Amino acid sequence: MKYKVKAAVLPDFRSRFMIKEVELEAPDDWVLVDVKYVGICGRDVVVWKGGFKNLKPPLILGHEVFGYYKGTPVAVFPGVKSKECERTDLCEAFSVLGEQVPGGYANRVAVPEWNIIALKDHDLVKYAASACGVATFVHVAKILGIKEGDRVLVTGASGGVGIHGIQHLKLLGAEVYAFTRDKSKAKIIEKLGVNVVTDFDFYRSVGRMDHVIELVGARTLNESMRSLRFKGSIALVGNVTGEPIFIERPALFIMRELKMTGSAAYSKEEYIEALNEIEKGYIRPFYKLYNFYDINDAYEDVLSSMIIGRAILSI
Ligand SMILES: NC(=O)c1ccc[n+]([C@@H]2O[C@H](COP(=O)([O-])OP(=O)(O)OC[C@H]3O[C@@H](n4cnc5c(N)ncnc54)[C@H](OP(=O)(O)O)[C@@H]3O)[C@@H](O)[C@H]2O)c1
Ligand SMILES: [Zn+2]
Repeated sequence: MKYKVKAAVLPDFRSRFMIKEVELEAPDDWVLVDVKYVGICGRDVVVWKGGFKNLKPPLILGHEVFGYYKGTPVAVFPGVKSKECERTDLCEAFSVLGEQVPGGYANRVAVPEWNIIALKDHDLVKYAASACGVATFVHVAKILGIKEGDRVLVTGASGGVGIHGIQHLKLLGAEVYAFTRDKSKAKIIEKLGVNVVTDFDFYRSVGRMDHVIELVGARTLNESMRSLRFKGSIALVGNVTGEPIFIERPALFIMRELKMTGSAAYSKEEYIEALNEIEKGYIRPFYKLYNFYDINDAYEDVLSSMIIGRAILSI
């Protein structure tokens, strides 16, 4: 089917978005969702910078999509699966909304009906702020086997993924430590009942961790490794600067028998688990709302780490 959208189009990597009407095409059995709110994820910033080599502009970004379908408030699961794929996580056969498939920086998105998840209330902003972050942590917590009482450090804890993800860890009963560079953000994060550190040489102040969830990547990974106990584990979830990562002290990695894993997105079931936690009011949303037409201002703020939580576009 052919359909028209008003979209924020990225004409080139690292350039300004242009809002315009464009005609798009989707398989005939896909359906259209009216977008009300879309989050600007750190993953979108990676796309914006040209970090995913398989993508070519022009692009319509955005996978954190919330709106209405047939009058019902809905979330849109961002992984569009191919017909032959039985799995419901973001396996290699998936296309991602806002990447291989036109995304939600637009007034409408086309997806298979399978991707649409009905919500129980109309407070879409709280879902737009926190769903991707909580679901990312539901997934990584399972990979690491995080359980009640575990000591877990999260770097990049003030961003949209971190500040909502740490609340999921608290629900699991973990003892959470958070790293942010910003002292004023630290004061806000502390109110969630976590211990916050702001200096890059944080390993002495946090003590020995069972797990580290790395949202920052290159800039903090070596200090995070120093913070791990014998047989501790670290999950690389993000690498905000996109730099290569070097292990400064391989002997420490070897002698402590540390484990390192990647963690990529989440399954539809994990996404629904996150939506349920949000719906029940267990997750406090942190966000800043922007008018759709102010998308370039929103990007400037995200790139300069001005925001605590998620920047959300109101369409
Ligand atoms: N693997 C997955 O499943 C998955 C899912 C979603 C996102 N991600 C990735 O996770 C990362 C975080 O995503 P997000 O949505 O939370 O991004 P975000 O909202 O933009 O927040 C990123 C945070 O990283 C910190 N940061 C930025 N530049 C830094 C630097 N040079 N040194 C140290 N800290 C820096 C900032 O914290 P302070 O200013 O407080 O220090 C900022 O709050 C991104 O790399 C994203 O691509 C991964
Ligand atoms: Zn996201």
